[in-house]
Amino acid sequence: MLDNETIRDAARSLFPGGVNSPVRSFRAVDGAPRPIVRGQGAHVFDAGGTRYIDYMGAFGPLLLGHAHPAVTAAIQAAAAEGTAFGALTPGEVELGRRVVEATGLERIRFVNSGTEATMTAIRLARAATGRQLVVKFDGGYHGHSDGLLVKAGSGVATLGLSDSAGVPQAIAGLTAVLPYNDAAALGRWFAEHGPETAAIIVEPVAGNMGLVAPKRDFLDALQRLPHEHGALLIADEVITGFRLRYGLSGLLPGADIVCLGKIIGGGLPVGAFGGSAKLMSQIAPEGPVYQAGTLSGNPLVMAAGVATLDALAGGAPYRRAEELARHLENALGAAASRAGVEAAAVRVGSMLTLFFRHEPPRNYSEARESDSSKFAAFHAAMLARGVMLPPSQFETWFVSAAHTESDIDATAFAAHEAMYALAAGATP
Ligand SMILES: Cc1ncc(COP(=O)(O)O)c(C=O)c1O
Repeated sequence: MLDNETIRDAARSLFPGGVNSPVRSFRAVDGAPRPIVRGQGAHVFDAGGTRYIDYMGAFGPLLLGHAHPAVTAAIQAAAAEGTAFGALTPGEVELGRRVVEATGLERIRFVNSGTEATMTAIRLARAATGRQLVVKFDGGYHGHSDGLLVKAGSGVATLGLSDSAGVPQAIAGLTAVLPYNDAAALGRWFAEHGPETAAIIVEPVAGNMGLVAPKRDFLDALQRLPHEHGALLIADEVITGFRLRYGLSGLLPGADIVCLGKIIGGGLPVGAFGGSAKLMSQIAPEGPVYQAGTLSGNPLVMAAGVATLDALAGGAPYRRAEELARHLENALGAAASRAGVEAAAVRVGSMLTLFFRHEPPRNYSEARESDSSKFAAFHAAMLARGVMLPPSQFETWFVSAAHTESDIDATAFAAHEAMYALAAGATP
């Protein structure tokens, strides 16, 4: 089998930055990516055979952990029947029913990624309102369509870019960016631009500037102001949907359009958007808003999604993952304070981020005040101790139901050592 270095070298000659998605390059932590050959439960194994306790969780989909037996079996069984038909299949109805029942969305459409879901949600909002302006929040990431790559989080933040090259000004100019968690700024926006605003798109819990929890007055303003001004609210629940509980997060029940992804595909490529039957009737072929996909509703994806949701439906995996994440949050806080390192752990459900700053950030500009070089040193020290964290200060860590107490204990011990090494200036 090829070793880590050989795979990395080959990848560098094949792909820009040696990767097929920017954050994977480990540039933000000044490190070398570990090519992963296998995952089992809460663990991943690199090409050199090293095992890591995994908190990347494939950036969100794997609430049940890697290679969950029921999910794997469902994918295998579906693959044996054929991998794509370009036709309606029963699997779409199976997963569609589960998503509709759990979310209360009257109609949904499956797509292949979160990016497709948000991109079409915006097209739908513009068509429904006859307006053009879209509001997003600084550090919010909604995939990589042109109009949403304005002051985005995730990989865009990680690489220190505020916008992407190649986005025409005419398109970027239709996206307004406001600070997250700032109800007053939202009020001012609507007072000035209400009649031109088609939609606001927002992550109910911001997960792409690191994890930032929403303030109550912000959530209230999000649900009131757009509707008072004839605009639509788009809840981007690509991360939070089926992550915080079975169904939607419950934080933005007033949303008109909801975007989903990640967990509902059980680790295969997926996205979905949905809303009321009336609004969704605007989508082709029922209505004039075009959207299509060769592999949308793919049978393997649908089977993985059904198996995943069935395993989550009773709620036990949520309780377990959240309890473990709480232990981890406490352990990280204790490790930092014992070593005298300034750090704040932020947790919502089974999602968390350790920020190297004195207190939890409320928005992206505060998140950016974190000491990213300390995070990079911490990341390297944890990696050296067999713990795989997302390779950026501005990403969320995901605890799964497949983690065990001993995984958390081992992580806590690694964090304890890493923090002391950091304090002594001797990492990893
Ligand atoms: C909140 C949010 N929306 C949309 C997306 C885009 O999803 P995808 O990467 O599947 O295109 C992401 C990806 O991380 C996300 O976190």
